[in-house]
Amino acid sequence: MTPENGIDAWLRYAALPSDIRIKHKQLSRIVALSSSETSPVYTAAKELQDGINRILNQQIDILFATTIVTSTIIIGTVASFSSAGGNAQEIPKLKEDGFWLSTKGETVQILGQNERAALYGAFEYLSMLAQGNFSQVAYASNPNAPIRWANQWDNLDGSIERGYGGKSIFFKNGVVLDDLTRVAQYARLLASIRLNGAIVNNVNAGYNLLNPLNLKGLARIANAMRPYGIRIGISLYFDSPRELGGLSTSDPLDPQVIKWWSNITTLVYQVVPDLLGYLIKANSEGQPGPLTYNRTLADGANMFARALKPHGDGVVMYRAFVYNHHLDESDWKNDRANAAVDYFKDLDTQFDDNVVIQIKFGPIDFQVREPPSPLFANLRQTNAVIEFMVAQEYLGQQSHVVYQPPLWKTILDFDMRIDGKSSIVSDIVSGQRLNWGRCGYAAVVNVGNDTTWLGSHMAMANLYGYGRLAWNSSDNAVDIVQDWARLTFGIDKTIVDTVTKISMESWPAYENYTGNLGIQTLCDILYTHFGPSPGSQDGNGWGQWTRANAHSIGMDRTLSTGTKNSGQYPLEVAEIFDNIETTPDELLLWFHHVPYTQKLKSGKTVIQHFYDAHYTGAETAQTFPAQWAALKGLIDDERFEHVALRLAYQAGHSIVWRDAVNGFYIAKCGIPDDANRVGNHPWRIEAEDMELDGYKIVSVSPAEAASGGKAIITISKDAPGVAKSALNFLSGTYDIAVNYYDHLGGKSEYEIFLNEKSVGKWSGDLEDKLGHDFSEYLDGHSATRVTFRGLNIEQGNILKIVGQPDGSEFAPLDYISILPQGIVD
Ligand code: GCU
Repeated sequence: MTPENGIDAWLRYAALPSDIRIKHKQLSRIVALSSSETSPVYTAAKELQDGINRILNQQIDILFATTIVTSTIIIGTVASFSSAGGNAQEIPKLKEDGFWLSTKGETVQILGQNERAALYGAFEYLSMLAQGNFSQVAYASNPNAPIRWANQWDNLDGSIERGYGGKSIFFKNGVVLDDLTRVAQYARLLASIRLNGAIVNNVNAGYNLLNPLNLKGLARIANAMRPYGIRIGISLYFDSPRELGGLSTSDPLDPQVIKWWSNITTLVYQVVPDLLGYLIKANSEGQPGPLTYNRTLADGANMFARALKPHGDGVVMYRAFVYNHHLDESDWKNDRANAAVDYFKDLDTQFDDNVVIQIKFGPIDFQVREPPSPLFANLRQTNAVIEFMVAQEYLGQQSHVVYQPPLWKTILDFDMRIDGKSSIVSDIVSGQRLNWGRCGYAAVVNVGNDTTWLGSHMAMANLYGYGRLAWNSSDNAVDIVQDWARLTFGIDKTIVDTVTKISMESWPAYENYTGNLGIQTLCDILYTHFGPSPGSQDGNGWGQWTRANAHSIGMDRTLSTGTKNSGQYPLEVAEIFDNIETTPDELLLWFHHVPYTQKLKSGKTVIQHFYDAHYTGAETAQTFPAQWAALKGLIDDERFEHVALRLAYQAGHSIVWRDAVNGFYIAKCGIPDDANRVGNHPWRIEAEDMELDGYKIVSVSPAEAASGGKAIITISKDAPGVAKSALNFLSGTYDIAVNYYDHLGGKSEYEIFLNEKSVGKWSGDLEDKLGHDFSEYLDGHSATRVTFRGLNIEQGNILKIVGQPDGSEFAPLDYISILPQGIVD
């Protein structure tokens, strides 16, 4: 099978098997009702020609015309169709960006309300063909909401904030890249999932984007994306007037500041006449903003809105992610989750009509489980969008498979009961519930220059799924992943079933082995947000607190004794969350501080649930590599191996997670695991208990990131270390799992021997193979596992590991598990 590198993602248009392909009638000609090369209609015609060639092996001509001529596919806008003499009577009225697709009759009609919509229709038709679906259909498809954007967090230096898929495709060394081929390819992907806008730089913005050279670069980016119907916008740095303009202030009410932004905006529109608008992160995580100048957030937002207003339909996307990250934990009334409503609710009437508030889906920060942000129920007059994060910052950083649509659906399907009436979050952000006109969806997307885009083929299901839900929030998460699997990997049933099963199991598994019952992802929030460090949530001002002590855990967000966060929700919802009896188990610790012995609705105690869930989650992750193995030979080896490597890594890291979190809580509360698993590992040999030569014992921080709290590293930075142990297990066939640390700064080499016979080798080079934010230390980020399977061991055999240090990585080892068949520990 031809190797594939992922560059075409779900648009690879694999040839259908010939027995399916021949069932499709011969297509002869595409008539495109636009000949402008920058028109999405032109793009659509080319895409159809290419796709049909590749999927059906049919060569088909394009005729660019302004009158209807005989054709087998006609593509254009409804208006151009009518003026070309077409009969549009059958076509229902379309919303902006909506399209009509009819495969009935002699001619396939793909007609958009506008040009980009025609392109959406072309992609829809190609998606059907590529899945071998030749059914006769005639329907209109309209978007949920007008705003469907991607937010890049790309920095001008070419790095990407929370990027795990290579370097920026937009910027390098402070300027826009010369070669924007990847940007056009990206626009193609975005258009195929019906996104219509992209903010091209990080919310933590620099002012250098506004220099003359970069303004020209922005024009080139816009030009590269325009043929796909993608408009661009930019993130702005609030203090630019002071720091770039040399003014003495950036006060949003200062006439000179207002003038400065107005001039800059004129310049931006000169180069990008169809600018989407501005994205603003202000007064958040150290960023300056209007509050810095004793003005309100509305003053700040309106300043940008007024600069944009004369130029067209540009909007200010003002982020609701405003909070104090120096919050005092000793005050039990303090709560970061309250911040958005506290800051924005009273300003509801004060924003100009081209200001849109961009609200992260939950009150904190893209955690593995959160309730919807209460701000969705507290704005009536100010339009808003919901912000998701395709980037898996807190969800395994694309090194773990976590398919997010099921998580997003818990938010989109939630009924906020505003004024006692049905107020489903998706109806709020679509504008339907409160009659908003400028609203919808934004998602942080960390595509990079890796050919896989996100650094992981499987992670692309999240980008695809985001587009699908932004268009139609009632789409089903299973249907979405099935379509994506067929398009990405192939239409074979085993492929589709396997990819779907792993994907659908992935978020529940991840929640199980990371943070349960609404306690949040228990990752290290003070460093890279990847591996486990439950203790890092507390004892600092970031406000992602768990308030775990020796007896109890959870945030008391109730009205009577807590932070009153429950009261930020409309009455009926507030009552549910305020009451421990009616709060669903999965959010119990989000809203309540309870003893570890608190009984859940399942009958288990909180602590036993933690222990069990961590075992269950890690067990599920152990099944992923074996499930995936069924696809060997069904998909190309290149992508097969890429995914297999990550799933094996995930299986190993899920055990690190399991043991770290369980170890942390058992140490804290002293309540044993009913099943006696936690802290009891009969198959393990701790590295620190082995006979060591050239190795020394070190403490690991946090302690729970090492089995027994300790690991070994070589004494010398050059000379190898040797760790030996006699194996006192019954003779038989075993898997040997080695837990070690693979951190930044070197690529140690390891070899493992049984009675001096080499049985395996590996190197500490995951930083090259995975691309997530690795750590420089021995900790929960770098802790990992390698497994050698099916080894015959005689009782008394000597196990030996030789570790060769490299750079600052001293061949660290944690423990070795000698696992009888069927046991993973
Ligand atoms: C998170 C993330 C930051 C990001 C911020 C934001 O806190 O860790 O990197 O800047 O969200 O959304 O602005």
